[in-house]
Amino acid sequence: MIDVMKMLKARMYMKRNEPFLSSWHAYVGYELELFKAFERPVSTFDVADAFQLDEALLEQWVHVGVSIGHLKDAGRNRYKTWNTWKLPKPKGQNSSGVLLKEMMELHIPTLLNYPEMMRTKKRRHFEEEKHAPTVAETSRMLEVLALPKIAKRMKEQKSRLVLDIGCGEAGYIQKLAERFPHAHFKGLEISPVVAEKARQLTKGLNNVDIDNADLWEYKPDRLYDMVMMNNVIHYIDLEERQGLFTELAGWLQDGGVLSVITPIAGSGDSPPFVNAFNSFFSAFDNLYRLPSRDELTVWGEKAGMTMLGIQTVIKEGSWYVVQYRK
Ligand SMILES: C[S@@+](CC[C@H](N)C(=O)[O-])C[C@H]1O[C@@H](n2cnc3c(N)ncnc32)[C@H](O)[C@@H]1O
Repeated sequence: MIDVMKMLKARMYMKRNEPFLSSWHAYVGYELELFKAFERPVSTFDVADAFQLDEALLEQWVHVGVSIGHLKDAGRNRYKTWNTWKLPKPKGQNSSGVLLKEMMELHIPTLLNYPEMMRTKKRRHFEEEKHAPTVAETSRMLEVLALPKIAKRMKEQKSRLVLDIGCGEAGYIQKLAERFPHAHFKGLEISPVVAEKARQLTKGLNNVDIDNADLWEYKPDRLYDMVMMNNVIHYIDLEERQGLFTELAGWLQDGGVLSVITPIAGSGDSPPFVNAFNSFFSAFDNLYRLPSRDELTVWGEKAGMTMLGIQTVIKEGSWYVVQYRK
């Protein structure tokens, strides 16, 4: 009986892990540009030869692909990419593959290191310079959902001067600057590589300037109508969050708005995705857990601001836009 239970449980763990195969397969295909290589029916021999890859491993990858519907057997030992709508676009084409890359190269290895970290009581160190470009690119995926909420607030407020803290590639700034040509936008970004990319992406806009600067060293020479801080709270030490909110309130005009995007965690009903995210951030000595709803309320209140609302961006990821008025 006990052996039967053991087998059934093992089977359950394996079955539950099956979806991992799709993400793994898509990641390898994206990383090595294999979906493009198999665009037309071609043999594994030809692809291995053209890309200088290990043919036996490529064959395994192809077999998995056929079994999960990413590839199709095209006869005569040739295979073809199938169900392209499910697959990431090739690199450099605004592809969702960057998220697979972040997940497979950063999130999953970190989570697998939990036993070691718990035993040794040592956290990892998040290598900002190495990961900043990927992280800045993946967080842009939320823009499409969050932008309308920020634009609506800007319109209502008639905001003219806007600051974006930790602006990443300046995706929010770029789209808002096109939509509000009479407003001026400043982005602060600590990573030189990411700040340079932000400059490139906004170079046609004369109402934008990007500073390669640390928010902790920034001293504004004017007051802003809106300060945005999107997907940055997890970079801020827990002890410093209240102080930062108070500081940011001081950078706003009376009536100005602080607009923050963050996943919210900490309640019993937090969805699994946000818990996984929180476990990831907590694994580093220089990244920190996500805020709770209560904390976000208290930080705003103590900084002398009124919370305007918490709007959902992605429910499953527990991502929200939280806005306050000074
Ligand atoms: C997750 S990305 C978010 C980018 C963008 N705001 C978005 O939501 O798409 C966070 C960005 O904040 C930047 N950052 C982190 N700490 C910072 C600091 N102290 N000062 C300025 N930028 C910072 C990181 O380099 C990174 O590009």
